[in-house]
Amino acid sequence: MLLKDKVTIVTGASSGIGIGIVEVFAEEGAKVVCVARREKQGQAVAASIREKGGEAVFVRCDVSQSDQVDAMVKTALDKYGRIDALINNAGVNFVKAFEELTTEEWDRVIGVDLRGTFLCTRACIDPFLKQGSGNVVNIATVHTGACLPGAAPYDAAKWGMVGLTKSLAVEFASRNIRFNCLSPGLIDTQIWQDIQDVAEDMDACHKHWWSNIPMARVGTCREMGQAAAFLASDKASYITGANLFADGGMTSLLVSKESYKSKVLEGK
Ligand SMILES: NC(=O)c1ccc[n+]([C@@H]2O[C@H](COP(=O)([O-])OP(=O)(O)OC[C@H]3O[C@@H](n4cnc5c(N)ncnc54)[C@H](O)[C@@H]3O)[C@@H](O)[C@H]2O)c1
Repeated sequence: MLLKDKVTIVTGASSGIGIGIVEVFAEEGAKVVCVARREKQGQAVAASIREKGGEAVFVRCDVSQSDQVDAMVKTALDKYGRIDALINNAGVNFVKAFEELTTEEWDRVIGVDLRGTFLCTRACIDPFLKQGSGNVVNIATVHTGACLPGAAPYDAAKWGMVGLTKSLAVEFASRNIRFNCLSPGLIDTQIWQDIQDVAEDMDACHKHWWSNIPMARVGTCREMGQAAAFLASDKASYITGANLFADGGMTSLLVSKESYKSKVLEGK
């Protein structure tokens, strides 16, 4: 087992990639603290892990709220006595033309994706330093390799996450705390469902995406869990400050041969 008894906080654990991370970490022996705002969904995720013989607990928390984050980390410490890893996965995104963007929309995305990552990380640093070890995996995006029009707050927040990751990697390297980013490509989550739901021509939609993804398929949430588990494990013991792209080759492709307009991912 890659993560035997490693106490791991996973934010945004109630859906999508968060569930994939929680499942793989539990299978690899981790004790998982499932963090989410949505009580019913989060409780259900933790319960399903326990039903399969894993160890998991749900803690309700809005990661953009400092007091809630501090209380969440305290609950995790009270329950398990230590924190070995933090996976900052909670995130929000939307696509909108920059000239129409409101300050509230900007603040919301930065508040969850970047401020939330900062708050959760800061709350874990003290326990990490006391233990003499720690590990953070920040879930960024392929947008940190190349951007899409209409996603300015998301792109700014996720590039900020990469900067934070590299900065803390060098600041804490000598104190045995590692920081890395995992950047997913297009993953089989709600966003992929939304793209398909509005497709007028499904064949053209798939043709477009497969021409932009050299592996010609979307990734799975469990594949993101596996990549995160590797980064959080001792198998990655000499890796810090990295941004690992798990994108089926998407960011290595210079130019796609196909063009297709997606209503979901279209800025003006
Ligand atoms: N799905 C993809 O294709 C894809 C691609 C690249 C990056 N990502 C990133 O992966 C992560 C997970 O995305 P997903 O696709 O599974 O989406 P998702 O919407 O299913 O998951 C995001 C989770 O974050 C939670 N969340 C949002 N705001 C929160 C807050 N304030 N406090 C606590 N939790 C909050 C949501 O409730 C949800 O559980 C995100 O950071 C996203 O940017 C996803």
